[in-house]
Parts: sequence; C-alpha cells; structure tokens
Amino acid sequence: MTKLKIKKYGDFVLRRKTEMILEITDDIKKLAYDMLETMYLAPGIGLAAPQVDVSLKLCVIDADPKQKSPIVMINPKIIADENKIVAGEGCLSFPGFYEDIKRFDNIVVKYTDLNEKKCEIKAQGLLAKVVQHELDHLDAKLFIDYLPAWKRKVIEKEIRRKKKIGDW
Ligand code: NI
Repeated sequence: MTKLKIKKYGDFVLRRKTEMILEITDDIKKLAYDMLETMYLAPGIGLAAPQVDVSLKLCVIDADPKQKSPIVMINPKIIADENKIVAGEGCLSFPGFYEDIKRFDNIVVKYTDLNEKKCEIKAQGLLAKVVQHELDHLDAKLFIDYLPAWKRKVIEKEIRRKKKIGDW
C-alpha cells in the first residue's frame, strides 16, 4: 500500500465533479487500499477520492479506527435521512480547522463495495456525519460551504496567511 498525498483546500480537484465507477478494476481496488492507508496514517476517519486527486465516486470510512472496521463505498447515495443535529467537524483537506456543522443524525446509504456487492446500511451519529461529509466531497462540496459567509472569509484569510508562510 502507498501513502497518497492529500490535497488541501485551494486545489481545484476538490471542486471538480466526480464520475461514476463503472467497473471495479484492480486499479480501483489499489486506489481504495491506498486511500485507507492514507486515511489511517493521517489520521482521519474518512477520505474521498478527490482529496487524493482522483475525480471518481469512491470514498473510504472508518468511524471507529481502533476497531479497524473500514468501509469502502463505490457510487454511494443517501436514500433516507432524518433528525438534523449540530456537531463539530473537520476535514483532512483543512488541517487545523474544526467547525460546528448541521447534518442529519440518521441516514440510510446504499453503495457498492469492492467485491461488487450492493450494500445498504443505516448510519447514526458519528458514522452518519462522516458519510454525509465524504459524499459531499464526491459532489465537490466542502464543509465550509455550510458556514455563514463571514466565517468562510475568516477561514480563507487564515489559509492565505498559512500559505504565505508555507504552512499549507
Ligand atoms: Ni473532508
């Protein structure tokens, strides 16, 4: 497995729409394993393909990394949601930033796994939050998009400052 470079905010790939995966090739499997490795090393609990410069509908998640229970989602789609709550949230493409975001606390998501099996799972709490965050990445949407404009400006200003000192 290879550790991949995680793209940070400002890289155009994070705003590019992703394409459906039509066939689960060996390359797709390798990408998924490399993404899991990269996510665990970061460390993080979710990583979407655009974050490693690949515009495909693929993300990896492990909301409980101590138990090592990885989930690979190919072409995922949320088919039910309810009960919005506010919770703190970060993103590997925004190191150092953590914001309160409103999302559904209960969702049902369907996807294809690496063995081409059609899966459907109910997710609640942390897992529901991560799934929504990663699926947003596949739609070129970022967690700061949920924030009020003034707060986004503060974050963007801070990122410009970090870029200037080579810390981004
Ligand atoms: Ni993210």
